Amino acid sequence: MIIAVDGPSGSGKSSTARGVATRLGLRYLDTGAMYRAVTWAVLDSGIDLGDATAVAEIARNLDLTIATDPSAPTFAANGTDVTLLIREPRISENVSKIATNLDVRADLVRRQQDLIAAAQPGGGIVVEGRDIATVVAPEAELKVLLTADPEARMARRQAELAEGAVTAAELRDQIVRRDADDSTVAQFQVASDGAVEIDSTFMTLEQVVEAICQLAKEAADAV
Ligand code: DC
Repeated sequence: MIIAVDGPSGSGKSSTARGVATRLGLRYLDTGAMYRAVTWAVLDSGIDLGDATAVAEIARNLDLTIATDPSAPTFAANGTDVTLLIREPRISENVSKIATNLDVRADLVRRQQDLIAAAQPGGGIVVEGRDIATVVAPEAELKVLLTADPEARMARRQAELAEGAVTAAELRDQIVRRDADDSTVAQFQVASDGAVEIDSTFMTLEQVVEAICQLAKEAADAV
């Protein structure tokens, strides 16, 4: 089984997708982390982020090792464990530039499809991102578009950050600007055919996980 969970930053995708994978005994893939790992490699190389050809070359040659265990999803890039490094602000600030490079996208989509295929004998995988239901795995048995009001997404992001790390205005700019930047590649906020939209604004994480597990059961019964 493939469960696709798409949604904007701060919608709670990661915690939700990981929770669903744990509950259902499936593998878990955070595709945003792959774009972040490429961003880390590009910054590490010192090349100009605007040099699309050089950036695509870095992505193509990147040795990316990904653990899809939901209890310990780790990422190594060229032998360096980047699991924590890819969460640094300098990565978040630059990742949209990398994610809008179409050659990088083609390369990462292919790797994502390989990881999804590798997970099938073990029962399946929960894949989170922006274009999973539309591009990476349109064959997914369950497609979820997870949304939340910008205010709720800002509050969640604020809770994740150290107290006082950013002002409300900075946070709003980050969330709104990231949405705009991310949307330049694909209609990330539009539900694909057959996708179920879940608005998590007034739901707890546990309620969203429960709702998706219920939908997964229905999808499995329907096969
Ligand atoms: O979900 P995230 O914030 O970790 O995603 C990081 C960036 O990667 C963000 O700019 C959106 C982009 N992304 C993408 O373009 N396609 C995906 N499947 C996943 C993430």
